[in-house]
Amino acid sequence: PCKLVVLLSGSGSNLQAFIDACNNKTLPNTIISAVISNKADAFGLVRAQQAGIPTACIDHKKFASRHEFDTALQNQIDSYNADLIILAGFMRILTPEFVRHYLGRLINIHPSLLPKYPGLNTHQRALDAGDSEAGATVHFVTEELDGGPAIIQAKIPIFNGDDTATLSARVLSKEHTIYPLAAQWFAEGRLSLQNSKAVLDDKELPESGV
Ligand code: GAR
Repeated sequence: PCKLVVLLSGSGSNLQAFIDACNNKTLPNTIISAVISNKADAFGLVRAQQAGIPTACIDHKKFASRHEFDTALQNQIDSYNADLIILAGFMRILTPEFVRHYLGRLINIHPSLLPKYPGLNTHQRALDAGDSEAGATVHFVTEELDGGPAIIQAKIPIFNGDDTATLSARVLSKEHTIYPLAAQWFAEGRLSLQNSKAVLDDKELPESGV
């Protein structure tokens, strides 16, 4: 089976979507080998423990530099022999060395229609701009922050009266569908990173992914 390691910092609703997909076999031949958090109080760790998945906490505040933190993180991940590393609300910027080590097997979900709104506060920025739609993007992680090639994108409408709470909830529910699907393609050997492009079934994906 394809071994996933999930990295998170918070609630872990995306992790829950992966757990559910593994349990109901929509994510066949895949196991979540471990969940790692940089925050001891992340609810995602509780979700993992309830599902019987091994967990680890590596607190970034205990390291003198980003490099030392990433080295500890890398050693922990590699102890599980992961095939694919899933960033699921992991709120730390990773060093170029770390990203290069996992190039092609490190994916992220970002709550915007990339290349729009990399970085933080995506929903507030979409509302402030008066956008009519928002969404989420699953992408391969490269050295450019939120800049790697897109795999799959989901769009939702923005309604009058939306605030960041209503908008983020509508986007999250889409995240829970598209993220396990991207992992499924990877596990099936259909998805890869080739010459800095996302490739699905031997076809280069467009800038916005599927
Ligand atoms: C998700 O909306 C995810 O797209 C976002 O954090 C949330 C995590 O929710 N990720 C980022 O902002 C990455 N910079 P969850 O903990 O419930 O899965």
